[in-house]
Amino acid sequence: MMVEAKTLPVIGIREIDDQHAQLVACLDRLALWVGKGQGFAAALDAMQALNDYVETHFSYEERFLAEHGYPKLDAHIAEHQRIRDELAKLNIAVLDGGDISEELLTLVREWIVSHIGVEDREYADFVER
Ligand SMILES: [Fe+2]
Ligand SMILES: [Fe+2]
Repeated sequence: MMVEAKTLPVIGIREIDDQHAQLVACLDRLALWVGKGQGFAAALDAMQALNDYVETHFSYEERFLAEHGYPKLDAHIAEHQRIRDELAKLNIAVLDGGDISEELLTLVREWIVSHIGVEDREYADFVER
């Protein structure tokens, strides 16, 4: 079953909003394997795509914020690290047999969506001033 999609916040920077949409699309693809207990290769594929995309996006954002001299860059990087840690738990669950709990996936999704809505929005306000 699909994990309920929470509305994705928009931060007003086109390239980054596009990346966020892609990131959530990766989560949706992974959600297709929740509770299936089968389709290990496909779940692994979806998980790998999510890992790659998170890394690509976080590096892009951290570079972008460094270029703009964002004063809260260190705190932002620490937040990204916390999300990476949550994601690592999801990776373990997938590698453990390809079955993902809906609870864990929802948690990771919450972390990502609320990070976009709070911390990402905050830097967007700074950059656009
Ligand atoms: Fe972001
Ligand atoms: Fe971020």
